[in-house]
Amino acid sequence: MSVPANSRWNRLLARPALVLGAAALIGFLLGHPWPAVAIAAMALVGWQQLRLRRLVQRLSSRQRITLGSGNDAWADLGQLLHRSQEETRHRAQRLVEMLRAYRAAAAALPDAVVVLERDTQRVQWFNEAAGHLLGLHYPEDTQALLAERLRPLPVAHWMANARNPEALLDVPSPVNPAVRLSLRLIPYSDQFWLLVARDVTKLMHLEHIRRDFVANVSHELRTPLTVIHGYLEMLDPAEQPDWAPILVEMRRQSQRMTQLVEDLLTLSRLESQDSINDEVVAMDSTLATLRREAEALGKGRHVVTVEDRAGVDLLGSPRELHSAFSNLVSNAVRYTPEGGSIAIVFELDQDGEAMLSVRDSGYGIPESHLPRLTERFYRVSTSRSRESGGTGLGLAIVKHVLQLHQARLEVTSEVGQGSTFTCRFPAGRCVARAAEEDAQ
Ligand SMILES: Nc1ncnc2c1ncn2[C@@H]1O[C@H](COP(=O)(O)OP(=O)(O)OP(=O)(O)O)[C@@H](O)[C@H]1O
Ligand SMILES: [Mg+2]
Repeated sequence: MSVPANSRWNRLLARPALVLGAAALIGFLLGHPWPAVAIAAMALVGWQQLRLRRLVQRLSSRQRITLGSGNDAWADLGQLLHRSQEETRHRAQRLVEMLRAYRAAAAALPDAVVVLERDTQRVQWFNEAAGHLLGLHYPEDTQALLAERLRPLPVAHWMANARNPEALLDVPSPVNPAVRLSLRLIPYSDQFWLLVARDVTKLMHLEHIRRDFVANVSHELRTPLTVIHGYLEMLDPAEQPDWAPILVEMRRQSQRMTQLVEDLLTLSRLESQDSINDEVVAMDSTLATLRREAEALGKGRHVVTVEDRAGVDLLGSPRELHSAFSNLVSNAVRYTPEGGSIAIVFELDQDGEAMLSVRDSGYGIPESHLPRLTERFYRVSTSRSRESGGTGLGLAIVKHVLQLHQARLEVTSEVGQGSTFTCRFPAGRCVARAAEEDAQ
């Protein structure tokens, strides 16, 4: 504290009893003791006032309080204030260091990180990678509107719908279209969002190689398989009774391989497509075909019912939609024992979405398997699927077909009770049926 005193006056005034005693003595010698004591008391009060004011001034102007000497209350107060100031200073320094370390870590990330203000969607901060991945520049782009800076990417629309933390978007980089980015928006506080952009070019490239490889191998296998299949068809088991069981098994396996190759080719074709040519898919005839297929596959072992309550047709690819629906129907037939029921229902829900459901009273699927059903080659019970000739590609095909139609697959199932597979199409894919339009 600066107030304490190195000066003699300060040291003297710090001993009030001594001052008052001296004043009384001098006053007594001069013959006026009380006025001398009163003047000394006023000087003491004035001096204390002055010290207090100086201290308040130093505190309010955030000056450092230096340690003072002496052993009066002012010295104690000075020590306390000094200690508390030092502690606060250390704490602030530590926080600044931590902040610097976090910033340096965020700045060094290979992914672009942008902090946005949630309401205004303006950029608050971004790291170095945001420069070469998203083309943001410091300092011009702090406070810039992100959607405007990243145009032509459809960021504004995406952000408007990105209230859920899982929002993702695969887009070309605005700096270099050859670089593919995966964007993720994380609402980490009420006030701020974090936009993370990751370079997924290599991943996409590998994905392309994998897709091409599967497509090429499947294509190459097709011809030799057709030849083998053809020769096997020519061999008559009746003429070779010893070989009959082997021939039958060879035919069965070659058929299975052919189906596998066809399914892989279908998947590759669907994966390489971004969109489909929309046509009106006549649902009454599609449902009639599905019923015929279910009855033919089940050979009369199940009760098949069809309900057409939607009164609309779908917009999409008739071929792909038929393939998706008949995959669901063939599963229902395969995984439902004799005497069970299969119900195919086409209806609208209250939001105008069209739902095609295939419900069976079959074996059912344990809940833990449901999230993985649409993975390639995923089978719940390999022995049952092998028995029925399944390869685990059917539902992967269904998923891709539905994705191309902006539709989704919902599955509910109970072991021993049966399963329901529902394809849900957005209202925009429903069109009034021609016959019903005419009737209006
Ligand atoms: N309706 C159903 N009831 C019970 N299990 C089912 C049903 N549909 C599918 N599954 C289970 O899901 C798995 C995956 O089905 P998916 O259609 O993809 O393959 P798959 O039927 O085995 O072979 P395929 O490629 O010939 O369709 C099946 O193996 C089966 O275990
Ligand atoms: Mg199947």
